[in-house]
Amino acid sequence: TRPLKVALLGCGVVGSEVARIMTTHADDLTARIGAPVELAGVAVRRPSKVREGIDPALVTTDATALVKRGDIDVIVEVIGGIEPARTLITTAFEHGASVVSANKALLAQDGAALHAAAVEHGRDLYYEAAVAGAIPLIRPLRESLAGDKVNRVLGIVNGTTNFILDKMDSTGAGYQEALDEATALGYAEADPTADVEGFDAAAKAAILAGIAFHTRVRLDDVYREGMTEVTAADFASAKEMGCTIKLLAICERAADGGSVTARVHPAMIPLDHPLASVRGAYNAVFVEAEAAGQLMFYGPGAGGAPTASAVLGDLVAVCRNKLAESTGPGESAYTQLPVSPMGDV
Ligand code: HSE
Repeated sequence: TRPLKVALLGCGVVGSEVARIMTTHADDLTARIGAPVELAGVAVRRPSKVREGIDPALVTTDATALVKRGDIDVIVEVIGGIEPARTLITTAFEHGASVVSANKALLAQDGAALHAAAVEHGRDLYYEAAVAGAIPLIRPLRESLAGDKVNRVLGIVNGTTNFILDKMDSTGAGYQEALDEATALGYAEADPTADVEGFDAAAKAAILAGIAFHTRVRLDDVYREGMTEVTAADFASAKEMGCTIKLLAICERAADGGSVTARVHPAMIPLDHPLASVRGAYNAVFVEAEAAGQLMFYGPGAGGAPTASAVLGDLVAVCRNKLAESTGPGESAYTQLPVSPMGDV
């Protein structure tokens, strides 16, 4: 069987882990897929940076030329942000490649158009890594629960803010002190706005709500409130009531089934709720489905290796589809339901 050619767009924390695991687990990947996978190109911004284990001959700064090559089977997009990622993905579809992406901002904003482009060209678009790192969520919601009816998805989907809130809760620290520690430990970015103001969680809420309820929800539809105003005094009051405070992404189907709501805000949760015990930078997503009942998905929601695990799972699935000359479930039939910012709850 001919090797399947994979190109990486981006070689940062996640991309370099994807490349490393592709090499170290090459035999296992070949066995699972039924054909070898070959790293055929790596597009980066700074070519001079030393990248251990990657053949310098594969490195290019011309991502556009790489996606237009025409012999690439799967593009792995781990650049993030809207452009140039969006144009590169649609160009990849036009030139014969399927795409695995970890790009929550792009999927939350333009998921519908990207799915349409994938279908038009008969390609796959997989993005398990876009929501909650290693935790399997996209495929469980889209595939394992496809015969059930999901009514609610409640999650801690941002590790940085969970770390900060957990620190405030367990030590009595103020917001700034806890944020400084998160920055020192490398959890928070130099500019933590996307995390602490809830943009990152809102993008993930939009993606989860769309898949869980078989509709389309965009980032703009999500009510968003960050956690910068939460104080040590709020934690003291919460404790008195037997609660803690978490930044939650809450996606719900209205009782009449006619609309959905998605929102992100700090919320008090009782200490005996499973989400209350999610510590540090971990993520957890609680799903309520009619027949299944209550499910909880828990694990590392960020970081190079955990996120690479989700990317590689998608890579295996997309490569299998390629060999079978088919595509995966993608964005299956959906009904556009009204999205109300707060719902009636
Ligand atoms: N900044 C994100 C977090 C990274 O803290 O969870 C993963 O999307």
